Amino acid sequence: ISSYSQASLPGLFASVLLLPIAALLTRAAVLGCADAFLKRGFKGRDLLKPWDATKEIPESAGLPASIVYVGLLFLLIPFRYASNTAPSPPERAGDGAWIGEITGIERFPHHELSLYLSTLLSLLSAIMLGFLDDVFDIRWRLKMPIPILASLPMLVVYFAGGGGTSVVVPSWPPLLRATFGGVVDLGPLYYLFMSLLSTFSVHSINILAGINGLEVGQALIISLSLCLNSALYLDPRAGQAGSFASRELRDRHLFSLSLLLPFSGCCVGLLALNRYPARVFVGDTWCYFAGQVLACAAILGHFSKTLLLFFIPQVFNFLLSCPQLFGLVPCPRHRLPVALPDGSLAPSVAKCYPALAHSAPLTTKAGLSRLILCVLETLRLVHLTRDSVGNITQTTNLTIICATLVLCGVTPSSISSSRLVSPGQKSGPQPDEKSTASAPEGSSR
Ligand code: UD1
Ligand code: MG
Repeated sequence: ISSYSQASLPGLFASVLLLPIAALLTRAAVLGCADAFLKRGFKGRDLLKPWDATKEIPESAGLPASIVYVGLLFLLIPFRYASNTAPSPPERAGDGAWIGEITGIERFPHHELSLYLSTLLSLLSAIMLGFLDDVFDIRWRLKMPIPILASLPMLVVYFAGGGGTSVVVPSWPPLLRATFGGVVDLGPLYYLFMSLLSTFSVHSINILAGINGLEVGQALIISLSLCLNSALYLDPRAGQAGSFASRELRDRHLFSLSLLLPFSGCCVGLLALNRYPARVFVGDTWCYFAGQVLACAAILGHFSKTLLLFFIPQVFNFLLSCPQLFGLVPCPRHRLPVALPDGSLAPSVAKCYPALAHSAPLTTKAGLSRLILCVLETLRLVHLTRDSVGNITQTTNLTIICATLVLCGVTPSSISSSRLVSPGQKSGPQPDEKSTASAPEGSSR
């Protein structure tokens, strides 16, 4: 009996139906909680709207959104599982042999229900961690390992279902296949990879943030891309006459779709309120929850390596951020770009105290930091400011948003000169300060 025996095409239609329902419920729930969040102090200022600097909008809107999602999955449990305890009459298997009567308890999809419940457990842990982070601003060294722990129940159920640990070796470069063969069994290393994947997806969404709609928008794009990817595996013939392997493959993707379609609905409902100009902020609760949903769908659908392809911008942002995340380069509390009075954006900066001496040996932390920054400067991913003797005093922040601005030629120094030629504007702040100036009427971003 397939591990995913409840996955079916009618179930797929139910999940498609849940998409608009989840969108409408999420929008209603977030709007309904907005005042309560404001009263309880869950609010923030939009740092990219200096002309609206005093306006506060509700934060942690990801909490009602994620509760709507989890609530819908809870509601689905009786519909998916309670009707499947009746005994089935004898039937013919694919190879023509007769299968005797299967009793209700044998027919009940215990393993799939375990997968479903362990997914819910992982999601609830992620929501709890995200909300705690919103309330207490948890330290990085604590919040890094928690998603690994949260993924354990799901990984154990994956193991119990005989979860595969083999990966297909890429055909290029040819030396790889010649060395390792076509398929490599990674064994326990594959479990390590899956638990690291869940902590990566959770945090990588959170650090690619700061522009209205970005946290929800990226989750929606990845979720819809994964839905499209899974749709390619939905061969209806696999359900009837197909081999066990093709049925199992189709059913795994159906299971992932049953998680991803309602999630896409929640993204749409939340994006309507978080897109520019944002009426709510989603908070860390959303980022952690969204990352965990995507990781669970990929792990249980057995396409965790494919997930990384859809996370390429986040992987790049994470790699670029590493020197700041691991303390080699100063990391300010906020790394989002700076809004100028005319509504355009400029890269934000991190000041280096003390300055990174040009003569610091590579064996010291300052020397290593300087080397990394110089390499990134050569690649035009950062803009460095030096004092008269060549010591580095300031760098633009190491995020793909700031790097894109630097690549497009927007640097902290070019901003200062652009202000000089627009005398009609109020003079704005330096890039690392919070701006309180007003933007001219009609300025757009
Ligand atoms: C992460 C980033 C931080 C970025 C922040 C913004 C790292 C290590 N941390 O921190 O650099 O500045 O997210 O989301 O990369 N905000 C806006 N506009 C938005 C979204 C958020 O102004 O569209 C501001 C609001 O003031 C809001 C605050 O960011 O209150 C939320 O920040 P939070 O999610 O707590 O930041 P972190 O996740 O800790
Ligand atoms: Mg955040």
